[in-house]
Amino acid sequence: MLNIFITIAFLFASVLSKNIILTNDDGFTATNIRSTYKELTNAGHNVLLVAPVSQRSGWSGKFDVPATKDLLIDGEFGYIQKGQPSWGHEADNMNIWYFNGTPASSVSFALNYVIPQFFNSTDSQDNKTVIDKVDLVVSGPNEGTNLSPGYFTISGTIGAATSSLYRGIPAIAFSGSNSNNSFFKDSLNDDPLEPSNIYAKKIVEFVDDLFDKQGDNSVLPLGTGINVNFPKVGYESDNDECTDPKWVFSRLSGEGASAPDVYYDEESDSIKSVTVPLRGLINCFNGDCSLPSESFILANTTCQTSVSVFNIDYDANTELTNSVKTLLEPILN
Ligand SMILES: *[C@@H]1O[C@H](CO)[C@@H](O)[C@H](O)[C@H]1NC(C)=O
Ligand SMILES: *[C@@H]1O[C@H](CO)[C@@H](O)[C@H](O)[C@H]1NC(C)=O
Ligand SMILES: *[C@@H]1O[C@H](CO)[C@@H](O)[C@H](O)[C@H]1NC(C)=O
Ligand SMILES: *[C@@H]1O[C@H](CO)[C@@H](O)[C@H](O)[C@H]1NC(C)=O
Repeated sequence: MLNIFITIAFLFASVLSKNIILTNDDGFTATNIRSTYKELTNAGHNVLLVAPVSQRSGWSGKFDVPATKDLLIDGEFGYIQKGQPSWGHEADNMNIWYFNGTPASSVSFALNYVIPQFFNSTDSQDNKTVIDKVDLVVSGPNEGTNLSPGYFTISGTIGAATSSLYRGIPAIAFSGSNSNNSFFKDSLNDDPLEPSNIYAKKIVEFVDDLFDKQGDNSVLPLGTGINVNFPKVGYESDNDECTDPKWVFSRLSGEGASAPDVYYDEESDSIKSVTVPLRGLINCFNGDCSLPSESFILANTTCQTSVSVFNIDYDANTELTNSVKTLLEPILN
């Protein structure tokens, strides 16, 4: 009897259909995002993909809007060309949009233009349904990892997530260890060892777990997001062995947490960039200091995915705030 109940509950839970905005910073033509679109849609979700027309890695939360009605240069991989409109959708799919902006502004464009203008009524001809509320913003999976607060402040993938959290919409940033900038027309396939396909399946597993647990409640607490980094998988893993990476709870800062730096290269008389661990990032200020850092998980384990929870209240904790307040006592009223 209990088994039957569990089976029924599971069937019921697994058919939850949620409204998801999917974005990234590598552009709407990236294989990673197209594979994730396919899997989330196949899982029964109502997915609206809205992402930059061009590569916008490293643009953090910047909020570009198109300066002209039409594109002045080709989009990524020349898929959308110079002279075409600065925003639009796939000719045969109203749920896949590009925008000549950043990842963060693409989400706002989806919320404030695409949804009210095009998803406010059911239209069977266009195969779209009403989006009355956005349950989750999924950003990524990025081509390349986004580890530590050093990249939290730089990554366009994370910028789209934080910008959504500001608006009270739950958001998760996913980043892969596959860094090839790949065009979906070249690389989108059903090969189970293709990293983008493994990441897409794991993203569905992850978000469906949250949806099942939360039901009609918000997927995550207000202002709280998750930064997920996948290891090398499938063809990019040793002996193609990693096909189902394990989820590991982690934190953003801590051992090995790094950020970009520059150095002077005497031989070539040039300034070069390098990623280095930094003292301010290794220290634990907030949260559970016993957790491993996501940098450690990705650098020193195999086939493990780091899962770090963050919040967009950037204020210092009371102790730190008070110690600074004391310093400023003479000039503060
Ligand atoms: C939906 O959007 C269309 C196009 O902007 C508009 O004409 C219509 O009034 C809107 N309908 C509702 C119910 O908001
Ligand atoms: C709607 O779905 C049908 C069947 O899947 C497909 O042939 C058609 O191209 C779709 N139309 C749009 C506008 O997406
Ligand atoms: C990387 O992406 C490009 C562009 O889609 C593609 O031509 C190439 O085959 C890819 N390389 C690998 C190793 O996947
Ligand atoms: C990986 O492990 C080594 C040895 O314990 C350690 O020194 C290093 O900091 C770790 N790397 C990261 C990125 O945490």
